[in-house]
Amino acid sequence: MAGKETPTRVMLTETELPTAWYNILPDLPSELPPPLHPMTKEPLGPEDLAPLFPMGLIEQEVSPQPQIDIPGEVLDIYKLYRPTPLHRAYRLEAALETPARIFYKNESVSPAGSHKPNTAIAQAYYNKKEGVKRLTTETGAGQWGSALALACKLFDLELKVYMVKVSFEQKPYRRAMMEVWGADVVPSPTDTTDAGRAVLAEDPNCPGSLGIAISEAVEMAFQDPEARYSLGSVLNHVCLHQTVIGIEAREQMAKIDAYPDIVIGCVGGGSNFSGMAFPFMKDKFAGKEVRAIAVEPTACPTLTKGKYEYDYGDQAEMAPIVKMYTLGHKFVPSPIHAGGLRYHGDAPILSLLVKEGLMDAVAYPQTAIFEAAMTFARTEGMIVAPETAHAVKCAIDEALRCKESGESKDILFNLSGHGLLDLKGYEEYIAGNMTD
Ligand SMILES: Cc1ncc(COP(=O)(O)O)c(C=O)c1O
Repeated sequence: MAGKETPTRVMLTETELPTAWYNILPDLPSELPPPLHPMTKEPLGPEDLAPLFPMGLIEQEVSPQPQIDIPGEVLDIYKLYRPTPLHRAYRLEAALETPARIFYKNESVSPAGSHKPNTAIAQAYYNKKEGVKRLTTETGAGQWGSALALACKLFDLELKVYMVKVSFEQKPYRRAMMEVWGADVVPSPTDTTDAGRAVLAEDPNCPGSLGIAISEAVEMAFQDPEARYSLGSVLNHVCLHQTVIGIEAREQMAKIDAYPDIVIGCVGGGSNFSGMAFPFMKDKFAGKEVRAIAVEPTACPTLTKGKYEYDYGDQAEMAPIVKMYTLGHKFVPSPIHAGGLRYHGDAPILSLLVKEGLMDAVAYPQTAIFEAAMTFARTEGMIVAPETAHAVKCAIDEALRCKESGESKDILFNLSGHGLLDLKGYEEYIAGNMTD
């Protein structure tokens, strides 16, 4: 609730950096349906996942521990950009003439420009520790690929990135970033994997999707005993690593005697939203009133229009089958600018919480989110990523709702990344050429 004026930025010192991630698994209101083997359809055991992930991460996937210590080497790298600032969006509030207070957690200050290094660094660490030589991965807009490229460089691992073709063409500079950090980047679908060849045989002009790129990266990891696969979202351990966002934000809000009425994040696979919201959900499970809203594109409306059912994590049916909100693993979303939100499914934990009515979801079309991003850039200054613009749009809508009702709610959203390499979308919007 609104109280005394707050600083424009609330900072934490390096010594206040969280030393443990929050594991929501033991606190969930009902049991998470187990992931199934893509071939046998039986529940997956650790040995099934071992060709893909190091044991340290497999353990985190099912850990009953309420907190998991962040290894010292991971903390040392986090210190390059963490703790990240919490901002009060005074200028946006004034422009909207809202009685609401709007706060945002700025994850764009990482070297890669988004929240993705929070898990990339942890994943590279556990792989390195277990003797893995190289990683394979997929990337949409290139935010994840660049984060993992950075992490692999810092832990001296090789990296091969399958970048969704439409993004590869739209975002040449993200590819350059990955190459600066030493990664090998190819546009997906490629003709170097069975999964890629099968897609190209049906549609030689396929724009690609995260589902297809995942199939390619998984296939390559399976073939190489010294390689493992790394996923930038969806999985429990990824959401776990991202909880540093919400833990810090909760602490920063507490420093100014505030607590959010509403917590907002954009959702591709669900990792930044989960990371921001889960520490607040812990309070909600204990009876605190807080509303969490997941925001997705109408072009890929998994939570708002998808079905809650078991589905494959990838197009080629090689990745585990998990229970989640899904549009079907063959769904190829139209090539919107928010490439990182073009995934057919969602994190199983997040899906469960939405299914149980504990979290809400909304969807917006592309022009509406760019309009919101323009308002944000012209008030707060920051040019956000098209993915992040979904969260901005929702925060603005909630603030305008407060203006109508006269309520002075505290709205907190996660600014998951900057858009300085996504200016093509802004250019199209300004020229009036953008379509939904
Ligand atoms: C800046 C940014 N925000 C959000 C996302 C969506 O991913 P997730 O839902 O895992 O946070 C991405 C994905 O690439 C991204 O780059």
